[in-house]
Amino acid sequence: MERVASKIDFSQPRVIAEYGPGEGVHSREIARRMCPDSHLLLFELDPTFARDLERQFSGDRRVQVIHGDAASLPHELTHRGIDCCDYILSGIPFSILKIEKKRALLQKTYDALAPGGSFIIYQVTNELKQHATHFEHAESEYFLQNIPPMFITVFQKRHPLDHHKRRALERANFSVSAHRSA
Ligand SMILES: C[S@@+](CC[C@H](N)C(=O)[O-])C[C@H]1O[C@@H](n2cnc3c(N)ncnc32)[C@H](O)[C@@H]1O
Repeated sequence: MERVASKIDFSQPRVIAEYGPGEGVHSREIARRMCPDSHLLLFELDPTFARDLERQFSGDRRVQVIHGDAASLPHELTHRGIDCCDYILSGIPFSILKIEKKRALLQKTYDALAPGGSFIIYQVTNELKQHATHFEHAESEYFLQNIPPMFITVFQKRHPLDHHKRRALERANFSVSAHRSA
């Protein structure tokens, strides 16, 4: 769980959503690290887990438990007046979802992320990588120390500034090489 939390920059207030927190092992670590003005939205389908998460975080106003499908994220954000998430974390078994549901959830996830935001998944297989083509950048790590071993993959939504920086660099390189060849 420390490995997953280490993918998040907690140096400023964040909006973080987690799909399928189960008994809350990652949620507790995230809540422990995040600063006071942050929000953590937990989407859990299982009623027993959802109730237990409510109990665990009952004294923490930063954390909200949504007993429902991760697909309700856009609705829940609007309902709370939140524009977008900085991070979305997922432990749900994507590999068993039907392809249409998988694609729809990936699209909603991409749309709900702020530019530069990250979607972080931890799974025993890395099959989602081939479907998550909306994201401009993906980086995977195979974590053998976990039982069972799992992939942690960070999909990143491009920040428009990255594009501008790259264009500026390309222009600078072009003018250097034009200068050299002159
Ligand atoms: C494999 S468990 C992972 C639990 C936890 N994240 C962990 O690593 O210990 C998957 C969890 O995702 C929940 N889940 C599955 N599909 C979901 C969905 N569409 N929306 C919200 N939760 C979901 C299940 O109820 C279950 O608690």
